[in-house]
Parts: sequence; structure tokens; C-alpha cells
Amino acid sequence: MEFRFSKLAQKLKSSMIRELLKYANVPGAVSFGGGTPDPETFPRHQLAEIAREVIEKEYKYTLQYATTEGDPELIKQLLLLLRRIYGLDGLSSENILITVGSQQALELVGKVLLDPGDYVVVGDPEYLGALSAFRMREAKFLVVKFEKDGPNLDQIEYHLKRMQKEGELSKVKFIYVVSNFQNPSGITTSLAKRRALVELAERYDVLIVEDDPYGVLRFKGEHLPSIMNFGGTDRVILLNTFSKILCPGLRIGIVVADKQIIRKLVLAKQGSDLCSSSLTMRLAARYLERYDVLEQVKPAIDLYKKKKEVMIEALKEEFSDVCDVDWTDPDGGLFVWTTLPDIDTMEMFKYAEQRKVFYIPGEAFKPYEEPSSSMRMSFCLPSFDQIKEGVHRLKLAYLDYVEAKGLKCR
Ligand SMILES: Cc1ncc(COP(=O)(O)O)c(C=O)c1O
Repeated sequence: MEFRFSKLAQKLKSSMIRELLKYANVPGAVSFGGGTPDPETFPRHQLAEIAREVIEKEYKYTLQYATTEGDPELIKQLLLLLRRIYGLDGLSSENILITVGSQQALELVGKVLLDPGDYVVVGDPEYLGALSAFRMREAKFLVVKFEKDGPNLDQIEYHLKRMQKEGELSKVKFIYVVSNFQNPSGITTSLAKRRALVELAERYDVLIVEDDPYGVLRFKGEHLPSIMNFGGTDRVILLNTFSKILCPGLRIGIVVADKQIIRKLVLAKQGSDLCSSSLTMRLAARYLERYDVLEQVKPAIDLYKKKKEVMIEALKEEFSDVCDVDWTDPDGGLFVWTTLPDIDTMEMFKYAEQRKVFYIPGEAFKPYEEPSSSMRMSFCLPSFDQIKEGVHRLKLAYLDYVEAKGLKCR
């Protein structure tokens, strides 16, 4: 049967991550693949109790359609939480939209800001889900290197100046940045760069989309002010989510933006799903009312801190003799980004698969298709022993690969 798919559907490809991780569940495998939080950190008993309660006592709300903007009870709690996390005052419910995870927020932002052929400034590497959402709008990418302290600002300015010269600046719709412990690199944009980014965006009159699922998961050092703290809602759209600090199953994302932008996003969301789930929104609202989520998440932060330390130690032990090897050592989040010189981590993947260890090749996070010598290693799900064993296997896979290719490894 030949179906007449749209041009967009014809271009859709299965996500590389999904394809690669199909076999990550084989018995005995160690996977550094998914960025999925450790389920043992989910407050399942508390949520189960509240779920029963809100279904039985608040069924007229929880089993009914909700408004597109989101549950007012949850928005009330979110305004308090946003003040605590970011020190953002002066926001009202009109500045908030609740989405089905922040992935939907990315899709909606794409829908209301991007026409085909518009430009978005993105990093190399960049969060794959954002790239996919913007690709769906046929956006073009202005790519800048994501360095040890965040995006290369000279390259951003170079792009903006060039677009201005070509009379195309109005087509540059926004700069996308994951400000804390970026997925995939684990890198945090420095305070100086946050400020300078806002100045740059103001000078060239472009928006910034700040995506911050990981900021709360800081296990070392001081929390930095968000980019929105410097740019406000005139300049910045801030995205957040409950996926990493509570649980992804609730599928609750948050957009903080100027009222006019929120209104457009609401209209776009109506055409997409009418509303987020009344049930999970109210469940989250009552959870936030009863428990201090920032306290509750502390054991999870502690667990991730320890797992990260085990991964870094294992990398030191196994890979220190490989010349020019590099890995990030993040102060939070879920990812370490390891770079092995002169290798293609996509090619190496089959050797890793044979050794039953899985990672995401850096190529998945490239805005344009090209090989990468880096890989994303997520430390949140495997146990301490699995992390050690996985890094050991990774070294063996690396040695298999360099031998097969006749490369010099050290
Ligand atoms: C940077 C970033 N943005 C957005 C998301 C989407 O998260 P969710 O849709 O679960 O809120 C993720 C998930 O991993 C992410 O890493």
C-alpha cells in the first residue's frame, strides 16, 4: 500500500537514539544511553496517595477537560516555585503555560515563532529534541561551538552581523540555549556569558529561549542566576519541566514568557491537544502544596553526585593513558561528555555493542549531519558497579576499534 504522506512525514526519520538503544536492554548490558532519571528517586508512595485522593475528591476537575493554559492550582504553586528557584518576581498566571513536558513547549515555540527558512542559533553539540522540534518547522541552524563555559559568543555575533548585512536579521528568531548542565555536554553557561548573551540579543533584537530542565540538579557550587534574570520576559522565554526533579511520567513542562507569547502558545496548543492532563496537573499541584519539592529532590541530587563521581573516577582509571582524551566533569545534571581524538563514535558503537555497553554517539547532537569523536554518557540510571563495569567495557571496545582501524590509541 502506497500512502500519500506529507512532505514533512516523508522526511521524518526514526530517532538515532531509539535505533541505537534498541538493544540496550539485553541481559547483562550496561547503558549510558537514556537521560532517564533513576525511578527509585520518584516519590511513588506520596504520589499514589495523592492520586487516589484527587481522583475521588476532585473528580470534577481531574477527570474533566482542563483549560489550555493549565490548572490554576498548579500555576499558583509554580509561581511560588519559580520565585524560589530563580528569584523571579513580578510574574503572573498570564506569564505561564503548562505543557505536556517541555518537549511540547519546544514544539509550540517552534510553531509560533518559526516559518520555514527562519533561523535559530543553536550549539554544537545541542539537545537533540530541540533540534528535532525546530527541524519540524524547517528552520535553518546558525551553529556555534558549545565551549567549556557555554556558547561561543563571537560566533553568535558573527552570524548575527552577517545576517544583518544580508538583510536577513529579522529571520533570526531566537538563540536556543540549555543554560545549566546542558544535554548532552553537561556544560553550564557561565555568569559572564549569560549577561553577554542578553546584551547581544538586545543589540540585535533577537529572543533567547532558555531551556533549564537540570538547573535544580546542582550538586556542587553556587546556583547561577538564569538568563531570564538578566533579560526578563521581553527578551527571554524560559522553559522548565518536572521530568528531572519529580518524574517524567507526569509529563509536565512549564513555559515562562511575555503574555503575548503565552497567548499565541495557548492558541497553538489548542490545535495540538486542547489541554494538558487535568489529572497529572492537579496531582502535581497537591504534591507541591504538601511537600517541598526542592527538599524532596535532595537525595536524588546526592545520588547523581555520587554516580557522577564514580563515572569520572572510572574514566580516569581506564582512559588516562589515551592521549588527548577529554571529558566534562559537570557540577550537576545527568551527563558526562567524553571526547576521544581521531575516532568516530558512531563507528565505534558496534564494537561497544559487542562488549554490551551503550552510549549515544555525538553525531546525534550535531545540528548538521557529520561525524563526531564525542559521546554522551549518562550516569543517572546504572548502579555504581555498572558504571565502573561499563567504563571498563568502553575501554575494551575502544581498544577493539582502534586495533581494527589500525589507529594509534596512545
Ligand atoms: C534540554 C532538554 N529540554 C527538554 C527536554 C524534554 O523534557 P520533558 O519533555 O520530559 O519535559 C529534555 C529531556 O531530556 C532536555 O534534556
